[in-house]
Amino acid sequence: MPSSLDARAHRGEAVTAAAAPDAAAGSAVPGTGTGRATAKTILFGEHAVVYGRPAVAVPITAIPVTALARPVEGPASLRSALYHGRLDRIPERLRPTGAAVSAALDAVGRPSSGVAVEVRSEIPAERGLGSSAAVAAAIVTAVSAAFGRTLSADERHELIQIAERAAHGRPSGLDARSVVATGPVWFEDGAATTLAVGGPMTFVLADTGVAGRTREAVAAVRALREERPAHVDALLERLGGLAAQARVALGTGDAASVGAAMDDAHAALDMLGVGDPALDHLVAAARTGGALGAKLTGGGRGGCIVAVARDADHADDLVAHLRAAGSPAAWSTHLEASR
Ligand code: MEV
Repeated sequence: MPSSLDARAHRGEAVTAAAAPDAAAGSAVPGTGTGRATAKTILFGEHAVVYGRPAVAVPITAIPVTALARPVEGPASLRSALYHGRLDRIPERLRPTGAAVSAALDAVGRPSSGVAVEVRSEIPAERGLGSSAAVAAAIVTAVSAAFGRTLSADERHELIQIAERAAHGRPSGLDARSVVATGPVWFEDGAATTLAVGGPMTFVLADTGVAGRTREAVAAVRALREERPAHVDALLERLGGLAAQARVALGTGDAASVGAAMDDAHAALDMLGVGDPALDHLVAAARTGGALGAKLTGGGRGGCIVAVARDADHADDLVAHLRAAGSPAAWSTHLEASR
């Protein structure tokens, strides 16, 4: 398991919009439980979704996290690239991971049981790619399975949300839904539905190398909204409107319109105060590399950008171009048409 960013360019596997909406795998035989989830990229609606606007996200199924859980005598423990030890001594910044284990034990009615959890993640942490939600999803699935329980999608969602609240206060639920999806997601009013895609589309993700700060960014938007409500609400409305436009453009396979909406969304997110010079640099580099549009993705203030490539071959060129522009890691992910 890479503990730092994998610097290779990585071509993601195709994601089919028509696929089943739930990718979390788990075994319900008491003994060893397994759980799996994946990275995600938010195409439209981050931050605005916290205030009830719609959003569009895509799971990146080629970047997975798996968890294994086994009931043990004695205290609960965690083994991962970031920590190995007792759960009650977990470092503060991994508190959401600890919260996921505890929430799952509570849910199966075994709050004081010992469990040994091992997490293997290929998702770079703090990059706006949903690492915290995906790790939580894999853990709650594995821990409940280790005690013989298969969670319903809604039960699992509530447990992931407990971990996400420990991560950044008032999560919308978008990340929790997207990391267990197998196709593009339209998220509105707390619910995720599978989004139709009218033509193939390839996206490129590139890491700035700067750790994203979702908790801080979410708090900054809240503070700005208290200070300048009309200004912030207009930006949130614009971001929600762009998500709605993009839904139509994705449905007709109109990659140029999706790209144009991304350019607008990046500007609006910057005005919300969640931008960063490193994000602007890569967004500009994506455009000079021929992207149809680009924006920050996820919480912002660092993390990754997402760009629309002209096609799969251009995505490879764009990955190389963004790496040459200083991105330490870049990936592409492809959406097949669902109709
Ligand atoms: C973080 O990946 C997405 C945000 O919109 C927060 C949330 O939806 O809870 C910034």
